[in-house]
Amino acid sequence: MKTEFVTIEHGGMWGGRLLLFDSLPSTNRWALDNLTRCKNGDVINAAMQTAGKGRFSREWLAPHDRGLTISTILRPPNVKTGLIHATGFVAALAVRETVAACGLQCMMKWPNDVIAGGKKISGILAELETASETIVLGIGLNVNVTSEDLRKAGLEETATSLRICRNSEFAVHDVRKRLIVSLQRAFDKVAHDGFEWVANEWAHHDWLAGHTIEVQGPHGAVSGKYDGMDNTGAICLIDSAGTRQVFTAGDIVRLRKAQ
Ligand code: BTN
Repeated sequence: MKTEFVTIEHGGMWGGRLLLFDSLPSTNRWALDNLTRCKNGDVINAAMQTAGKGRFSREWLAPHDRGLTISTILRPPNVKTGLIHATGFVAALAVRETVAACGLQCMMKWPNDVIAGGKKISGILAELETASETIVLGIGLNVNVTSEDLRKAGLEETATSLRICRNSEFAVHDVRKRLIVSLQRAFDKVAHDGFEWVANEWAHHDWLAGHTIEVQGPHGAVSGKYDGMDNTGAICLIDSAGTRQVFTAGDIVRLRKAQ
């Protein structure tokens, strides 16, 4: 670890460390490259990312001190691929709580997006490293990202930030602190109560509820009436033939209110 570029503080999850970088290509990339030096609950934060990774090989925009970008090291016992999905849902619920605590109502969009004012305010990328049985949980939250930042990146139609929605700037370190507390609480809750808690919470804040949706899955696009997230974390829809279809992966488009 090149400690000259990093400040190490207390404040990770479960007594883990908080590693503060001014700039990294990607906090997830750094974590994956330095796993042997990281402990369960460590949180890696960069004030900016120059090559932030999103889902489906997209980029994640994080201008200096305007985006909150963290990667958390999770070493749960018996790590399995299914757990990585659950991790993303739990993290999204924690982000929702954090955004709500900043005075902004927001909702969940399967699998891991948080939506405010109809636009994406946060994204999550959980990556599994099988050899060391580690999940690197990456979270991006648009805190002080401006309309101009989004316009330059061609994202103004689809993305938003706390600053844009609340018309006021936020101290990124305060939002980070709230988020880490919410994350720890959410993971402790699911460890205690099981995935049913996640499914219930999700149903209360589900942006897709009552809508017709399109799932762009591995075998093309399928549309139908959204039928919720089940207790395994899969998304369900009723297609035009009345058949219930279940998806464990895919990109979702919310089309219109269902009849
Ligand atoms: C998405 O496409 O919705 C996922 C975006 C995930 C972005 C975060 S920012 C912190 C971490 N480091 C990365 O490079 N990506 C994730």
